[in-house]
Amino acid sequence: MGKMAVGFVLVFFSVTLLSGLMHYAANHYRRGDKGKQSRPNFIIILADDIGWGDLGMNQPDVASQTPHLDRMAQQGMRFTDFHSPASTCSPSRAAILTGRHGLRNGVIHNFAVDSIGGLPLNETTLAEVLHEAGYYTAMVGKWHLGHHGPHHPIHRGFDYYLGIPYSNDMGCTDIPGYDLPACSPCDRDGPADSEKNDCYSKVALPLFENLTIIKQPLNLWTLADTYTQPAVRILRTSRQRGQPFLLYVALSHMHVPLSPAPCLDGSAKDVYKSALREMDGLVGEIRRASDENDKGNTLIWFTGDNGPWNQKCQFAGDVGPFLGTWQTDRGGGSAKTTTWEGGHRVPTVAYWPGRIPANITSNTLLSGLDIFPTILSLAGVQAPSDRHYDGIDATDVLLRGSETGRESIMHPNSGAAGHFGDLQTVRLGQYKAFYMTGAAEACGGGKGQAEVHSPPLIFNLSRDKAESRPLDSSTAEYAAISERVREERQVVLRDIAADRVSHADYSRDPTAAPCCNPAHVTCRCQG
Ligand SMILES: *[C@@H]1O[C@H](CO)[C@@H](O)[C@H](O)[C@H]1NC(C)=O
Ligand SMILES: *[C@@H]1O[C@H](CO)[C@@H](O)[C@H](O)[C@H]1NC(C)=O
Ligand SMILES: *[C@@H]1O[C@H](CO)[C@@H](O)[C@H](O)[C@H]1NC(C)=O
Ligand SMILES: *[C@@H]1O[C@H](CO)[C@@H](O)[C@H](O)[C@H]1NC(C)=O
Repeated sequence: MGKMAVGFVLVFFSVTLLSGLMHYAANHYRRGDKGKQSRPNFIIILADDIGWGDLGMNQPDVASQTPHLDRMAQQGMRFTDFHSPASTCSPSRAAILTGRHGLRNGVIHNFAVDSIGGLPLNETTLAEVLHEAGYYTAMVGKWHLGHHGPHHPIHRGFDYYLGIPYSNDMGCTDIPGYDLPACSPCDRDGPADSEKNDCYSKVALPLFENLTIIKQPLNLWTLADTYTQPAVRILRTSRQRGQPFLLYVALSHMHVPLSPAPCLDGSAKDVYKSALREMDGLVGEIRRASDENDKGNTLIWFTGDNGPWNQKCQFAGDVGPFLGTWQTDRGGGSAKTTTWEGGHRVPTVAYWPGRIPANITSNTLLSGLDIFPTILSLAGVQAPSDRHYDGIDATDVLLRGSETGRESIMHPNSGAAGHFGDLQTVRLGQYKAFYMTGAAEACGGGKGQAEVHSPPLIFNLSRDKAESRPLDSSTAEYAAISERVREERQVVLRDIAADRVSHADYSRDPTAAPCCNPAHVTCRCQG
């Protein structure tokens, strides 16, 4: 109450006595809000398995499939050197929502359909902190941080949830989307198909609203609409609620199976491009609703959870120039699940009319880990102080043209069992050092053998975006760089050793799978 009263007096004062500041006050305090300071709204849109090169603005020589995102970048800020915190779904999402590496928050590989655990309950999510501070918090889309019992998003800080608790390939549907290899539809009567072709076929894909399964299986082909509707409704009703909000939209696009509506009716030829256009259209709808609701007071931050899934071939995204040639020459994949640039350099746009300058390309080095401290800083909210964080506050980069980002990024292993979470690759300035490579399948099935490197392989990204030729390890320059890398990594490892670190429960039990109707073989909802 005390703070609100002070806020009221301040606004009252500025409006009545300092008429010259009226314009300022109108911009900074929400109209009709009875003097309560209006804190900014946040929309985080996270695309799944998207490639850096999928965003039209990132590859001007390629026909763009993303006109809405391109326009947002023209009216906002595009980042060329922005990295997801990990190279697979669960660890990346956990790190974005906690601002902490997997070695701290405990999430170091993906959760399964029948996982009992999830993001450890004493880790604190962005939604929990903002909810506590008076924000309305809503999530639409893929959670993948555990769904059983207290791990469900409704218990992790979100007031509202609509979405799939994990990836869109983790369950059968009636009309399967495009995947490689293709998966079968759910069995209506007989026993569920075996797990052939790596298809999760035992449990149909569920759609939750809050804690309730409202469809199982859901219809993949209308998923874009299924997600757009609640997102737009949340934006349109925001003034009625009178609270600032966090809307976290975690898309199923561009993860296989791809199921863009125009491909079902046969009107589209290129499945990936159609899905990309559909995703872009969805982002455009959210932006339009946001502009109509509270343009000038809403930050939209679009990014990706990790790079394209190479082994899906024509159904995988485009890494642009970040080819990871050292690896692909040796027969392995160099994107999702790896720490090659294609695995974690993600297309990123920040849009906030009037606050973020327009048409800026930022080459500042940043990570998805920075979203947590930046948003909390913009909201004027403190994170719990009993633990350490891995992100930096990038407010000056977003709002004030600063080009000072991170000095370094630690890229965790997201692909090799036994090494999950290890800080195996270190970015330092323009250099990138690998202590380990490999462990991802390429299109066509080539396996990237996991390989340890001592001394590390070091690439110079400013002249070798494709990571094709490592520096000669016999030079004095190499020795100096590798020493700095070693020190940087030691500092982080020592910090983690002195921190509160959590461990996720990765045990599994069939009864933990979301099931609308346990009497049915694939849990299909009645009717
Ligand atoms: C989910 O919660 C919202 C309120 O936040 C409510 O309007 C809606 O009916 C709920 N849906 C279900 C299926 O319980
Ligand atoms: C954006 O910036 C680019 C390069 O700086 C310039 O060529 C282009 O005309 C600008 N576009 C708009 C819409 O201002
Ligand atoms: C890395 O590339 C930059 C740009 O080409 C160059 O100035 C620098 O000397 C290179 N560093 C090494 C160690 O080769
Ligand atoms: C969470 O609980 C575990 C087990 O008690 C502890 O080791 C860890 O430090 C806690 N994490 C945090 C962030 O407090």
